[in-house]
Order: sequence, then structure tokens, then C-alpha cells
Amino acid sequence: MDLVTALENLLVELEAGLQKAFSPEDMEVLRVDVLGRKGRLAQIMSRLPSLAPADRPAVGQAANSVKERCNAFFKARRSALLLQSEAAALQRFDPSLPARAPWRGSLHPTTLVTEEVCGIFTEMGFEVASGPEVENDYYNFEALNMPPDHPARDMQDTLYISDKVLLRTHTSPVQVRSMLTRTPPLAVIVPGKVYRRDSDLTHTPMFHQIEGLMVGESVTMAHLRGTLTAFVRGVFGAGTEVRFRPSFFPFTEPSAEVDISCCMCGGRGGHKDEPCRVCNGTGWVEILGCGMIDPEVFAAVKYSDAVSGFAFGLGVERVAMLKYGIGDLRMFFENDARFLRQFA
Ligand code: PHE
Repeated sequence: MDLVTALENLLVELEAGLQKAFSPEDMEVLRVDVLGRKGRLAQIMSRLPSLAPADRPAVGQAANSVKERCNAFFKARRSALLLQSEAAALQRFDPSLPARAPWRGSLHPTTLVTEEVCGIFTEMGFEVASGPEVENDYYNFEALNMPPDHPARDMQDTLYISDKVLLRTHTSPVQVRSMLTRTPPLAVIVPGKVYRRDSDLTHTPMFHQIEGLMVGESVTMAHLRGTLTAFVRGVFGAGTEVRFRPSFFPFTEPSAEVDISCCMCGGRGGHKDEPCRVCNGTGWVEILGCGMIDPEVFAAVKYSDAVSGFAFGLGVERVAMLKYGIGDLRMFFENDARFLRQFA
């Protein structure tokens, strides 16, 4: 067979071979077979020296043109395959599928509860106030009837910055600051961060409190009870019961701790074989501390004996845990999106 015929056959075979090539790998195998260094074209050309010198240029020319056409075949096949795969992808694409909704941020449960509680109190006429988180010993303790060496200071594991400067252990110093900058009658509600040297499953070194304070000419424990009942029913529902237990705080007298009927078991305590885990089967959960402002505190802010008032302080995370049925305090600080998204 003469070389020109061999070259032409090569083209015909390549065209047939390409019809069976469906991937870049298939194409590469073919390319090496036809155009590779030891490929079919090279083999044909290796026979060139056996021709009479006069015949060689014509065969050389034929070889060049075959090579160019081979390349053109490869190129055409490559774009045909690309078109096919694009068409297939388009067929898999279902334009009627609903779009994936973009992730939207949401308020943290701590923020939600803070806003709800402050909303309830501002509706009752309270004014929102705030104070510094880095506080003087005087406002955090002394003006609140806890002089140096007062045993009640041990109740609070204080983080000190220096001898007289500390991270506030409660929002109660804002009671003092509010009274110093206002004259009675006054009613303030104070949300904020507080800090204690405490860290375990049920305590974090930072948490949130809301302080409430009302001072006027004849503010009584009945006002305290009525105000707190309205607050508790606003947050936990109209059927929630409230109970006061005697307690002690240096800055209130008398003092009380307030329990609400357990929102988990409806105050029934669960079953006797399986007591409610939130209230340990008692039907009640503690929610805040409160009392009538101690005369020593009024003396510290130079208020007259004619006024009386109440104060209370509650933990925001605790309220949120009870309200939303959150079992683990750490959830509030880990910022796991799967947790936070549930409050969107
Ligand atoms: N400050 C108290 C605490 O952190 C709570 C409290 C506030 C109690 C106001 C009585 C009155 O435990």
C-alpha cells in the first residue's frame, strides 16, 4: 500500500474512532495512538526514506495536511462533547425547585428575654437605666449596706481589678447610681452584664441580670407583689402562680425570694415515679430575689425617711431557660447556629 493511501486510511479510522470517544481520557488514548511520538502517523512517516527522493515531497505534504485535519477532528469532537455535557446538565437542572432561603440572623435568647422583660416594665411606667460593668467597691457593696468585712460579701465571688475596683457582681449598684441622679418618685429597670468568679455546669463567669427599683412616698410590699405578679404572668402566662419566701439580702428588709409555679409541669410536680426535672417535683421554681429597700441604703443616697421602695433582681439566662425549656446554661454562650436559629 502506498504511503498516501495509508495516510488517508488513517484519517478515516480516526474519524470512526472519535465517534466512540466520550471522555477526555478516550480522546487522549486516541491522540497518542495516532499522533504520538511512536503513533501511527510517525510509523507511516518512518517509511519515508524507502521512497525515491522525487516522491518524498508529495508524501511529506500529504502527511502535513493529514496531521492538520487530525487536529481539526479532535477539536470538533471536543466541542461536540462539551455541548452534550452542558445540555445534560441543563436537563438535570430543575428551575421549578424552590430557592434555598438565605440565612438570616436572629436575636439571641438573652436579648429576647431582656427586651421582653424591659418592655413589660416600661409599659408599667419604669424607665430603663444602666451603669458601668467596671464598678467601684462603694457602689457594688458599701452603699448597699455591705461594709468591708461584711459576711454577705462572701456570697458573691468577686472579680477584682484593684483593691477598690471590681467587675460588678450584680446590677444592684445601679440602684444607688439611679437614686443619686434622680429624686423620688422613681421607677427604673436596669438590664446588664454581671460577673462572678464562678464557672461550672450551672454558673458562668459572666451572665445577665435585670434589676428593678421603685421609690416613692408610700411604696409597699403589696406594690412589689403586684408588680412582680404582673411581670411573671406577662412572661410565663396568665395562669402562673407566684409565691414569696422569706430570704436575706443586706440591702433589702424584709427580703424575699420569689418562686413561680413550674412552667414545665404546670406546678403539679410531674409524676411521683418520675418527678418534673425542672422543679424536682416541687411544682415551684425560684426566679428572683427582692425586698423593701433597707433604710441604710436610703441613708447612703441621702433620701429622706419619708420614702420607701422596693427592689428586685433576676437572672436573664435563668428566665430564658425556664421560658424556652433550655436545659443547659452553656447553650447561651456557645453560639451554635443550630441553637440560635430556633429563636428566629
Ligand atoms: N442583687 C441580688 C443578687 O444578685 C438580687 C437582688 C436585687 C435582691 C435586688 C434584692 C433586691 O442576688
